[in-house]
Amino acid sequence: MEIRWLGHSAFEITTDEEIKILIDPFISNNPACNIPVEELEPDMICITHGHSDHFGDAYEIAMRNNSIVISNAEIALFLQRQGIEAVSMNIGGSVFVHDIKITMLDAIHSSDIDFVEEGAVPGGSAAGFLFTLPDGKKIYHAGDTALYGDMENIIGHIYKPDILMVPIGDKFTMGPFEGALATRWISPKAVIPMHYNTFPAIGQDPVVFSNFVKQLDPSIDVVIMNPGEIYKPEIFNQEED
Ligand code: NI
Ligand code: MN
Repeated sequence: MEIRWLGHSAFEITTDEEIKILIDPFISNNPACNIPVEELEPDMICITHGHSDHFGDAYEIAMRNNSIVISNAEIALFLQRQGIEAVSMNIGGSVFVHDIKITMLDAIHSSDIDFVEEGAVPGGSAAGFLFTLPDGKKIYHAGDTALYGDMENIIGHIYKPDILMVPIGDKFTMGPFEGALATRWISPKAVIPMHYNTFPAIGQDPVVFSNFVKQLDPSIDVVIMNPGEIYKPEIFNQEED
């Protein structure tokens, strides 16, 4: 399995079975992404909420590749009306797509579809996604969110993800300290910071985040990526002795 960061909150996960999952495909208008949108050929696209920096190029990419879109009920309906195959789900539920279990989890944020000509239309509730791969490995993309107690009680204690993607940009989401505390509560093997340095308003030094995580729980690997970079987790190999 490998994880490619496309900048901001956009990630492409390629499983051992060669299934490509694209999360929050903000590509063509993303100042931090230098990957042409035409290059992306996902089997599925997961959208955490309706904001343009997350919905991004979902429509175009899904149309061109016949990708299945997974999102909350309101965003799914918005896409279905435009002819896209979209799986509608909601917070707390799971679906299986291409043998991958996708669980939608809470995020404390807003979710209006904010880029349509008539002004914002309601986009349901913001969410995060937990992916359970066929081999049992679990990856959790937190979406845009504040720090909240169920990150520890529910996500950390019940879902137990192996890899976490967490926002640290501040202003619209958690900042570096809150992101580090969320990481400690969720207690993954590795964490990747996201949603920072895309625009001046969310400028952050990821080393500050990394230092907070090391102080709170030095056993967690902090993986600071550059946009376009691929991470191949070795944390799983270490375990198999
Ligand atoms: Ni947002
Ligand atoms: Mn955002």
